[in-house]
Amino acid sequence: MTIILDGKKLRDKLLDGLKLKIDKLDKKPSLAVILVGEDAASKIYVNNKKKMAEKIGINSQIINYPSDIKEDKLLEKIEELNADDSVNAILVQLPLPKHIDKFKIINAISPLKDVDGFTSENSGKLFSGQKPYAYPCTPKGILLLLDEYGINPEGKHVVVIGRSNIVGKPLAVMMLNRNATVTVCHSKTKNLAEITKTADILISAVGEKVIEDSSMMKVDSIMVDVGIFKDENGKTRGDVNFDEISKVTSYISPVPGGVGPMTIASLMINTFELFELQNKRSSGT
Ligand code: GUN
Repeated sequence: MTIILDGKKLRDKLLDGLKLKIDKLDKKPSLAVILVGEDAASKIYVNNKKKMAEKIGINSQIINYPSDIKEDKLLEKIEELNADDSVNAILVQLPLPKHIDKFKIINAISPLKDVDGFTSENSGKLFSGQKPYAYPCTPKGILLLLDEYGINPEGKHVVVIGRSNIVGKPLAVMMLNRNATVTVCHSKTKNLAEITKTADILISAVGEKVIEDSSMMKVDSIMVDVGIFKDENGKTRGDVNFDEISKVTSYISPVPGGVGPMTIASLMINTFELFELQNKRSSGT
């Protein structure tokens, strides 16, 4: 019998604890989210972030811009938020429209307010084994979820499918930092099934049907599904054929209810940690 990695349950537990801490504060942590354009999925994600922030007592604001916004205007806004002491955390929802240089935008965020951990300073720290001010939310959420179930990646073969800057790459490094043996697969990987079959922990972050057949899995391995999309019938699903794959796994994360809630939990935790860090710095302790 496989065990479900229940991200919703852990999110609620972590955020209940965080809310208790925030309730005791006079000044509340604050998150600013920049959303450019009309992408439906991004709008839903951003609204969910705001709702959760409100629920636990984090102040939040969504700053909306049309998709034809000029890069300079965005840079100006980020500068303003950097200088605003009442804002502790800044998130620019990705993807951005093609005419905007996303790296320029991300790197304009003060590393101390970079709640995604995406700036060159924070990702450089992560990649060199130093502690960034914030860890990318989805990889952090995955590690919190595995930790909750007593799953230690040390010495395990972790196979990550997907090499995005948001999930695959930082996750691979965080797993390496936890002493896993890591393989990263992607769209040009040959014989994917030969590799996935050797995984003790398989993590798929693609957004397509990737793991359909249990012959791709090692028996009793752990499956973490990061993908989320609607199938041809409009049903929300992940990269993994849950009904088939859960027959052979020891642990598996569902979609929805697995990694998604953990990403939001990590965002809230990161916002709180940046708030604490900035307060410590300004009080000189
Ligand atoms: N788009 C999809 N996931 C993320 C994320 O974790 N952070 C940001 N900024 N944009 C995203």
